[in-house]
Formats: sequence, C-alpha cells, structure tokens
Amino acid sequence: MDTDVTEPDRTNKETAHEGSSFGPVGVVGAGAMGAGIAQVAASAGHAVALVDAVPGAAATAVERIGSALSRLVDKGRLSADDATAVLQRITPAESIDELPHCGLVIEAVPEDLDLKRRIFAELADRQPPNTVLATNTSSIDIDDVADEVTDPERVLGLHFFNPPPVMKLVEVVHGERTADAYVEHAVALMNAWGKTPVRCRSTPGFIVNRVARPFYGEAQRIVEAGIADAATVDWILREKGGFPMGPLELTDFIGQDVNLAVGTSVWEQTGRDERYTPTAFQQELVEAGRLGRKSGRGIYAYAADGSVGASAEAGEPDLELAGRLVGGPIATDPLARTLAMLVNEAVDLVARGEASADDVDTAMRLGTRYPKGPIAWGREIGFDVVARQVAELDEAYPGGRYRPSPALTDGSLS
Ligand SMILES: NC(=O)c1ccc[n+]([C@@H]2O[C@H](COP(=O)([O-])OP(=O)(O)OC[C@H]3O[C@@H](n4cnc5c(N)ncnc54)[C@H](O)[C@@H]3O)[C@@H](O)[C@H]2O)c1
Repeated sequence: MDTDVTEPDRTNKETAHEGSSFGPVGVVGAGAMGAGIAQVAASAGHAVALVDAVPGAAATAVERIGSALSRLVDKGRLSADDATAVLQRITPAESIDELPHCGLVIEAVPEDLDLKRRIFAELADRQPPNTVLATNTSSIDIDDVADEVTDPERVLGLHFFNPPPVMKLVEVVHGERTADAYVEHAVALMNAWGKTPVRCRSTPGFIVNRVARPFYGEAQRIVEAGIADAATVDWILREKGGFPMGPLELTDFIGQDVNLAVGTSVWEQTGRDERYTPTAFQQELVEAGRLGRKSGRGIYAYAADGSVGASAEAGEPDLELAGRLVGGPIATDPLARTLAMLVNEAVDLVARGEASADDVDTAMRLGTRYPKGPIAWGREIGFDVVARQVAELDEAYPGGRYRPSPALTDGSLS
C-alpha cells in the first residue's frame, strides 16, 4: 500500500555528498521507492546494490536513475561528473544472495507482510550480524516484519517519502525490540544523507499518516453532512488555513483508493477506533471508480490534462457561506474543526510517548507541507481552547470520534 503524502515540495536541490565509511548499501525492491532510495544512497557516496525479483528490473531501475540524474544535470543542480559518479556506484543484482556484505539494507518491496517477513529472514541469514536491516513500509508494524529475524534489535523502519530524492523527511521507526543504538545510528546516517530524520515508535500510521487522518476525515464529514460543498471546504483550508492544498482536492491527487486504504489500515490497526472510521462518502467514491485525478473523476472532475474540468463538479467556492462558517460554531467551522482535531491527534501521539513534540511538528511540516506543526498550532490556539472545542464536537457528534486527549489539559505540553 502506498503512503498518502501531499504533493511533494520540488524546491529541494539534489546534492552529492562525500563518501561515507559506512560501507555498501543494499536496496531490495527496485520500484518507485527502491530506485529513489538507491539514488539517495549513491548520492551520499555509498556503493549501492539494487535487487529486484523480476529479472532485468534492477537494471531498468538503474537506467531510470540515470535519466533522473541527467535531468538534474540539465537543470544545473548536479555536475555531469557527479552524475556519472553517482550512477557508477549503483550495481543491479538479481537476488539477495548476490548482495555484498552491507552496512545497511533497505527493503522496498510491496506492502505485504509475508513477503517482507521472508525477505528479512533471508537478509538476516546472509548479511553479517551488525548489518542494519530497514524496511520502507508505510503501515506494517516493525515487530511483525522482524518476526523471523533471530536478532530483531537491528531491524527498524526507514520510512522515506515519495519521491525519495526530493522529500527531506525520513521517519526512523523503532519496534519494541529495536536497539536504541541502531536507531541513533540510522538517525546519524540519514542526517549524513542530507535528510531530516524524525524518531517514531512503530505505531499505526507512524507520525505523518496518523496525525494527518483528521485533515481528510473532517472535510469528508462536513461535505457528507451537507454543511458545505467540497470547493468551499477546500477554499477555506487553503485560503484561511494556509494549507497548500485543500483536503478534498488532495485526496483526489493522492487517489481516493490509496487514501482510503491508508485510513482503513490505521482504523484496523487501532482496533477500529471510532476516530478513524472510514466515511461512507469516500467508500462510495471508491466503489464508483471515482478515484481522483488518475481516473479523470473523483470529488472533482478533471480534464485530460489533469486540470479541474469545467463541469458542475468543478464547483466554485461559496465565499458568502465560507464567511458565515469560519469563526462560527465549531461544529460547522471547517477550519477550526480540522485544526482542533489535528492538534488533538498530535498531542495524543506525543502523550503516548510515540514521538517527541518537535519531531511531530517537523514531520507534519516536511511530510505534508502543513504551514505549521500541529503542536505549535495548538500552543497558538491554546490547548485548553482545543480541549473545549473537541468536547463541543463530541457533544454535537457523539460516538467516540471526538475524544479530547487528556494531554490537552494536564499541562504536559504547555
Ligand atoms: N509509493 C509510495 O508513495 C511510498 C511511499 C513510502 C513508502 N512506500 C512503501 O515502499 C514499499 C515499496 O513501494 P513502491 O511504491 O516502491 O512499490 P513498487 O510496486 O513500485 O515496487 C516494488 C518492487 O519490489 C519488487 N519485488 C517484489 N517482490 C520482490 C522480492 N521478493 N524481492 C525483490 N524485489 C521484489 C517488485 O518487482 C517491484 O519492482 C512499500 O512497502 C510501500 O508501502 C511507498
């Protein structure tokens, strides 16, 4: 399953780092993520061995990386010599047996627990005992992946965002059995690669895919309840909230199916917590094949070039309605309601000890391009105000979705 991040920030420049003494890096799975991660590791100076199960796929991925590097040269972001050097460091391999002894192996095969478990057992068998074994999983528990590894203390998550050469954020995920020393080692390595690592426990959705849930869910519920139409909700979050995209247009961009799958996975993994119950609104879109931009129609209709089509579904924001809703009662204010729930979710994650407040804010700014981190936002709004808002929402919409985090009022975050 894919992660559901926002449109990537394309302003970061590719940089070629000096070589590191860490040794070769193995990458298993030469798809979208594996190829990007291989490019990042090679740009940081590592020899990289790239493996795929499909014969020839790793070699094709190396060609794709070559084209990506050429585009960077054309744009003046990388010298031709550096591009050649980076590419020469990447060697395709046909099987895990062909991998050299590595300092780190990163697995980026499809989101299938049995497959990942098998690969980790093979890697643990064939790689030296101090090789760090990392998974790029977006949603699977690290401890489950490490299940068949005899020394699971060296297994951790390195959750890169798409596309890895552009996106700075990496969630360094530790399972129950991961040794702290390996986590710290991975954090240092990601820093050396020019990334911004954040530490996170292996909680459903990790930081970004967990804290972002209400951004989508509140907007869907507001439209579902007929409080406002999609274009008005998106306009409010963009223009009044400063988000780069509104939540509904963003789910069309990500793909309604992908966004629903991530949300459903978090819901299932939290024992079907009411906070994450998928909306009928989104389920119906997916059932109708209205997947978003990629299918030409989702919440909005799209022209062949991907622009919002000139149909009724394109919708114009109702600015008079927006003016009445924003600053009005919390139950019908798309902005205040969304912010309150984002803050509540973020505060809960921190209170459970799953990530630090600073790391949550960094992850949300870099992984989703929110204009502010939700903890900083909560401080600005006032955690006591957010607690009252969530309690009001709970009164308006009972059922357990709107539970104020105890940490909003216990003073631990002020
Ligand atoms: N695409 C994203 O936006 C994104 C973002 C973050 C994390 N992830 C995670 O990264 C992982 C890979 O995602 P992706 O989008 O690159 O998938 P993908 O389908 O593009 O690539 C997966 C590759 O793994 C190969 N593969 C399958 N079985 C294999 C095996 N036994 N040994 C070696 N290679 C094998 C496939 O041939 C394919 O080339 C998944 O866990 C996904 O959840 C994806």
